[in-house]
Amino acid sequence: MKADSPVTVCVTGAAGFIGSWLVMRLLERGYIVRATVRDPANMKKVKHLLELPKADTNLTLWRADLTEEGSFDEAIEGCHGVFHVATPMDFESKDPENEIIKPTIEGVLGIIKSCAKAKTVKRLVFTSSAGTVNVQEHQLPVYNEDNWSDLDFINSKKMTAWMYFVSKTLAEKAAWEAAKENNIDFISIIPTLVVGPFIMPTLPPSLITALSLITGNEPHYGIIKQCQYVHIDDLCESHIFLYENPKAGGRYICSSHDATIHDLAKMIREKWPEYNVPTEFKGIEKDLPLVSFSSKKLVHMGFQFKYTFEDMLKGAIETCREKGLLPYSTDIAANDHTKSLLPHSTEIEAKDANCRTANDHTKGFLPNSGEIEAKTANFHTNEPAPHSIEIHVNGE
Ligand SMILES: NC(=O)c1ccc[n+]([C@@H]2O[C@H](COP(=O)([O-])OP(=O)(O)OC[C@H]3O[C@@H](n4cnc5c(N)ncnc54)[C@H](OP(=O)(O)O)[C@@H]3O)[C@@H](O)[C@H]2O)c1
Ligand SMILES: *[C@@H]1O[C@H](CO)[C@@H](O)[C@H](O)[C@H]1NC(C)=O
Ligand SMILES: *[C@@H]1O[C@H](CO)[C@@H](O)[C@H](O)[C@H]1NC(C)=O
Repeated sequence: MKADSPVTVCVTGAAGFIGSWLVMRLLERGYIVRATVRDPANMKKVKHLLELPKADTNLTLWRADLTEEGSFDEAIEGCHGVFHVATPMDFESKDPENEIIKPTIEGVLGIIKSCAKAKTVKRLVFTSSAGTVNVQEHQLPVYNEDNWSDLDFINSKKMTAWMYFVSKTLAEKAAWEAAKENNIDFISIIPTLVVGPFIMPTLPPSLITALSLITGNEPHYGIIKQCQYVHIDDLCESHIFLYENPKAGGRYICSSHDATIHDLAKMIREKWPEYNVPTEFKGIEKDLPLVSFSSKKLVHMGFQFKYTFEDMLKGAIETCREKGLLPYSTDIAANDHTKSLLPHSTEIEAKDANCRTANDHTKGFLPNSGEIEAKTANFHTNEPAPHSIEIHVNGE
């Protein structure tokens, strides 16, 4: 998929946790990158992209929104590849059908249409979710790409983040059909809980879950009870690897580690003893089997995971500390204002059937964070915005 001359690719949701890291790696690799965001003029949300190496010459920002038909046409026209990473994540939504589910499905279908119109796109890579695979009543010991979440189960339980699981499952299924009809080379990548360092300015949604033992965010314990993990860099490298590999096809699970809540707690207690991490969890058995996601298919293609479970946590904790998003120890957190630094936002990426038990306790735990307000503020804007803006090296 990679020619000798520079290859132009589009990344949607480019300002987010995964999107921004992927843009960084693509630029490094010599790609010309078109990054889509909803509000390119919002410096707070795009500065980290503009400051990336090579951004001044090889990156452009494009305004596009999944809720607007045809919104991605211009950004995709002339591209060789598209990485569709964007997804709405406001699990507090009062209208999940119209604010989460519909935009996710119509968004990917719109992007497939844009690819078909462009006629230049050789491959569309969709960032799916483990939430499309194992949200079901009884957990299997090992999941693979043949497995799909149980929509009846999700709709009957309405567990935390249920609308996200529904949105991603229906979107991926619809995308497979539409890609076939439109003759688009489509692949999907299924990350489990993504953990590691980050360049975005706010706390990435999945780290709220991954660091919940440190912040005492109990409603997330059900999710990390029997969880699977992948390092942000391994995930982004796998996106590029699969994009570039002509033989790639179908779905690919991308997950390197399985851990129970007890494994995670032990790791944090040993490596970061400055945090008070409990040894017992109410309602959670001492002896838990692992639930595993198999990346055999990806590894058989020749992909190698580089990072350990400890690397993931180290990257996440150190970046959060540097950005003032996490206290240096539990004592500090107890004494001062740092609590307010921990956005109680909502991305619940794991799909463990057990998360339904958290449902009742989550209400107070999922208030609107500034981040989410910022997102929705731009959500309904009708103001004309430039479709492409020039990149200024120093941002401003
Ligand atoms: N992190 C994980 O553990 C994990 C695991 C499995 C799958 N995933 C998948 O990975 C992808 C990225 O997730 P992330 O963790 O990077 O989350 P994130 O940081 O919240 O990024 C998501 C991005 O989607 C964009 N977006 C939201 N609604 C939009 C809309 N209506 N139109 C256009 N863009 C919209 C936002 O862009 P703005 O900048 O415009 O606000 C945001 O930057 C998602 O598809 C998610 O399902 C994540
Ligand atoms: C991409 O950046 C490199 C330098 O990093 C530069 O030589 C090249 O001309 C740029 N490509 C485009 C299309 O601007
Ligand atoms: C998961 O996929 C395997 C095939 O690899 C299949 O045998 C099994 O029935 C599936 N289980 C569920 C619950 O989807």
